[in-house]
Amino acid sequence: MEDSIKKGQEIELDIETLAYGGRGIAKADGFVVFVENAIPGQRVKARVYRKRKGFAEARALEVLKRSPEEVEAKCPHFGECGGCRSQNLDYTAQLKYKHQQVVESLERLGGFAKPPVFETLASPDQFYYRNKMEYSFGRKRWVTKSEVDKDVVSKPKDFALGLHIRGRFDKILDLDTCFLQSPESVEILNFVREFVLQTGIPAYSTKDHTGFWRNLVIREGKNTGERLINLVTAENPQHDNVVEELAAKLTEKFEDTTTVIQNINRKKAQIAFGDEERVLFGPGCIQEKIGDLTFQISANSFFQTNTKGAEILYEKVVEFADFRNDEIVYDLYCGAGTISIYIADKVKEVVGFELIRSAVRDAKFNCRLNHVENCLFVTGDLKDSLKVSLENSAKWGTPATVIIDPPRAGMHDNVVQGVLKLQPQKIVYVSCNPATFARDAKALCLAEYELMRVQPVDMFPMTPHIELVSLLERVED
Ligand SMILES: C[S@@+](CC[C@H](N)C(=O)[O-])C[C@H]1O[C@@H](n2cnc3c(N)ncnc32)[C@H](O)[C@@H]1O
Repeated sequence: MEDSIKKGQEIELDIETLAYGGRGIAKADGFVVFVENAIPGQRVKARVYRKRKGFAEARALEVLKRSPEEVEAKCPHFGECGGCRSQNLDYTAQLKYKHQQVVESLERLGGFAKPPVFETLASPDQFYYRNKMEYSFGRKRWVTKSEVDKDVVSKPKDFALGLHIRGRFDKILDLDTCFLQSPESVEILNFVREFVLQTGIPAYSTKDHTGFWRNLVIREGKNTGERLINLVTAENPQHDNVVEELAAKLTEKFEDTTTVIQNINRKKAQIAFGDEERVLFGPGCIQEKIGDLTFQISANSFFQTNTKGAEILYEKVVEFADFRNDEIVYDLYCGAGTISIYIADKVKEVVGFELIRSAVRDAKFNCRLNHVENCLFVTGDLKDSLKVSLENSAKWGTPATVIIDPPRAGMHDNVVQGVLKLQPQKIVYVSCNPATFARDAKALCLAEYELMRVQPVDMFPMTPHIELVSLLERVED
């Protein structure tokens, strides 16, 4: 069949399972086809848009047979928005496929036979679970399918505020509904859009790097009711008064808004992370609670986006680590110190490592806020700072347990080697990417560890993202 599949060809396919990333997998006479916008159990008509050695990529054009696992998507933007891509898949089935994907990654990329992976734990909320949303401004609005079908373009094409279209970093879907954060978050989004359109000041363009408005970031303390609105803009002091006026209007209309800031991003890259921060209202950060603990979060600090899910995740960390209260623990990639503080009363001392200076500032503040006195933090890139720490470990003591919670790229090889030199008895690895987790777990297990348990925890319902906690134990010679 491989030779008969051509780019541009339309074929009928039965979707067998779901790949990590959310595409359906079908076979055309044994030849693997990854299919966008398709879920297992469907028969679809699809168009092949790319052919590679050993597999093809296609996009579903029409569902010919519904899947028994199919449900009605809740959001009118489903199918076009890059936000929730699994909304038409029954939630139990989402959990089942996430479990399968973790197993497959460990088998295929990690070389583990029969990896010990538990069933995925569900998120307490399936909608409105996010405490942070990062909307983008753009000058290329995605013209929706319904506009094309009706042949009516209902809004200006050169302005949008919403989420990116999947795989199209230049096109933005102008959202007026979203079930990820809260109804208020959508009201703020719509209010900001109205205001910005009236100013006539253009959105920033990543093409020619002109324009002003870049991102609208909203953070909500799900357990505290506090809200931070972050207006990310390009640098232009002439617009300071417009931004201040918007901030004043937002605090007047949305009373739960406890702080508004402007982040000025001078970089060309479209990241919602400023070089300079202007606090326009309130303290410039919000507080959120996990269990009995309170955490201060500033605009740019990492904080798990699903607060209720984070409680489940951190409880699993505690369960897997099974701490002795006289032990020293290293918390690598510690962010604002959330895990360090969560485990502090169960161990002798925690040493947290983090790259972002403001996150470490938050971590130290969070210790004071929670009367925690046995955590210390090291700022720097772990690929260098862990080496320095190895030299300092005589001062801090050798960790019995190392917690590792890296970004999607996983661990740098220097960090893997550093951890191996530390020889902790246990490693609790938290991952948001099963592929890099499988790679790193393989490296650790080729040395002197055994993969004991893997627990996927669903932190991102309706999306293909996966989070997991795992336990690796040192094998004695
Ligand atoms: C997935 S977050 C984990 C945060 C924290 N454990 C939590 O649960 O809130 C990853 C963290 O690693 C930090 N980071 C990324 N690259 C790093 C590096 N090279 N060295 C140290 N920290 C890094 C990021 O700033 C981020 O705070």
